[in-house]
Amino acid sequence: MKYYSHLDLAKALWVHHLQEKDYVIDATCGNGHDALFLAKRIPKGKLFLFDIQQQALEATRTLLEGEFPSGAPHIDFFHASHEDLSIAAKDQPPSLIVYNLGYLPGSDKKITTTASSTIKSLESALSILAPEGAISIMCYPGHPEGKRESEAIFEFLPRLDPGLFAIYQCQNYCKNNAPFLIWIKKTTL
Ligand SMILES: C[S@@+](CC[C@H](N)C(=O)[O-])C[C@H]1O[C@@H](n2cnc3c(N)ncnc32)[C@H](O)[C@@H]1O
Repeated sequence: MKYYSHLDLAKALWVHHLQEKDYVIDATCGNGHDALFLAKRIPKGKLFLFDIQQQALEATRTLLEGEFPSGAPHIDFFHASHEDLSIAAKDQPPSLIVYNLGYLPGSDKKITTTASSTIKSLESALSILAPEGAISIMCYPGHPEGKRESEAIFEFLPRLDPGLFAIYQCQNYCKNNAPFLIWIKKTTL
């Protein structure tokens, strides 16, 4: 490995943070790579997957079936926008909510997360997050909507109560418009 990507750093934090009974939301499941990584770490918990594209959900289902051939009852799929992710928090609040923003690799780049849907989703995510929970956001400022979305996130984050949340940013400082990770950690009151 030449350098750590934003995804390597996110995964290291997920592993550090997660317990096997945790409830987790993947707010943009895409091709399912993040979902597979998460599902293996919470065998006694639950994973809720969201995407607005049926083809993304199918790709994720296929990938997960390869790993769990006899079924994975701890995984639920929602063909819905991440703005509606509170529907996944009825039984237990999630201790991790993961966003890998942008468009489905190898697919229509016009179908992408947007500043408006992502901010609405983050507001909802913050309201359902478990005490000591975390939100992981992978952002891609290298394409036009990703840039708008990143700017909207940077306008949104200072509104959070610093007594309740710690916010971290990881980005390769040597690259222009490099993807970056935001990690929001909720503290206990
Ligand atoms: C970069 S991909 C996610 C990659 C994925 N986590 C993986 O491991 O393969 C971004 C995904 O966000 C989805 N998306 C776009 N807008 C969305 C929304 N409002 N709610 C949920 N998913 C959305 C896209 O369809 C796309 O599949």
